[in-house]
Amino acid sequence: MQNTLLTNITIATMVPDDHSYGLIENACLAIVDGRIEWVGENSALPGQYSDWLLRDMGGRLATPALIDCHTHVVFGGNRAREFEMRLNGASYEELAKAGGGIVSTVNATRKCSEDELLAEALPRVDALISEGLSTLEIKSGYGLDRDTELAMLRVARRIGEVRDIRVVTSFLGAHAVPAEYASKADQYIDEICIPTLAAAHKEGLVDAVDGFCEGIGFSPAQIRRVFEKARNLSLPVKLHAEQLSNLGGAKLAAQFGALSADHLEYLDEDGVKAMATANMVAVLLPGAFYTLREKQLPPLEALRSYKVPIAVASDCNPGSSPLTSLLLTMNMACTLFQMTPEEALRGVTANAARALGLSDCGMIAPGMRADLAIWDAEHPSELSYRIGFNPLHERIFEGQS
Ligand code: NIG
Ligand code: FE
Repeated sequence: MQNTLLTNITIATMVPDDHSYGLIENACLAIVDGRIEWVGENSALPGQYSDWLLRDMGGRLATPALIDCHTHVVFGGNRAREFEMRLNGASYEELAKAGGGIVSTVNATRKCSEDELLAEALPRVDALISEGLSTLEIKSGYGLDRDTELAMLRVARRIGEVRDIRVVTSFLGAHAVPAEYASKADQYIDEICIPTLAAAHKEGLVDAVDGFCEGIGFSPAQIRRVFEKARNLSLPVKLHAEQLSNLGGAKLAAQFGALSADHLEYLDEDGVKAMATANMVAVLLPGAFYTLREKQLPPLEALRSYKVPIAVASDCNPGSSPLTSLLLTMNMACTLFQMTPEEALRGVTANAARALGLSDCGMIAPGMRADLAIWDAEHPSELSYRIGFNPLHERIFEGQS
């Protein structure tokens, strides 16, 4: 789609950070070579666009294409049995300590070839794309040995080649301690995690480094060592922090200038302040909160008052969030966390881009990538309001339908 003018469209630009959606009605949008060149009201359209290929969008709504900034979509097997066990009384932490949880997905993932991992991941990715996704973050962390961690990241890169999406990877070697290193977490960090990070970086497989700072994950001191290696390699960091308890993970991440801290149900005011000072994004994951039937809500009011940008993501993973819908994620963010529909949409567009360190997407403005979602909707609040309904009319990726 070269030199195209979309006409008769309502646009939620998400540009002004003032809770307004940046709505433009009766708008036009000019696209050249996959980028947005002009956006504004029809009445203000400059003359130079008059002979361009016109596409009448029938009064529909355009938003930035959706961005899922926290997923674990590459994995083997599923954990439906564990879901059942939790509903029969076992807790997430008990199952993890008994060799279930992340470690059970590690066993299933290690058995898969790269082709099998790709084949298992693609239906999940396609479900996200069917709701207007353009950009997808994918973590490793179900390998926990050198070969399988590298395989997961290669598969993540392949997903970006076989589908019209942009994939951003995170190395999550510090996700759990594998069975062969039980009670030897420090040794695991030294012997597997850090050398594998270096190898993955050398292969060009790592865009950022993540960790799981938690009683059933790694201590702040252990995460610090992984982050020091990341700094050494000039890679940005982010952290699963304060999900089940408060270990001060967000503060640690702030000391390393992290892109984001994610989950955050147990974040306290000091942690919020540290995130604000370090310009971090708070990535909230209502799918995990919902699936684990958590009670402790993330500190939304404090995040708002310290002006920490809030993103929301699916956290798609086989244990705590088997969720492949960003529209449902937005609905959950509103209903469970009391975010507004505007915050939810900003959370999967402008603020999700920011959480990934991307400055060329997530908003509709001149110079941005022409990654758009066109909806059969009149107002953007409809996107968060419905449950289990997909009003996507068309997805435009780098200017192409
Ligand atoms: O983001 N919190 C740690 N990691 C995942 C859960 C992974 C799993 O249970 O398999 C999460 O929720
Ligand atoms: Fe996660």
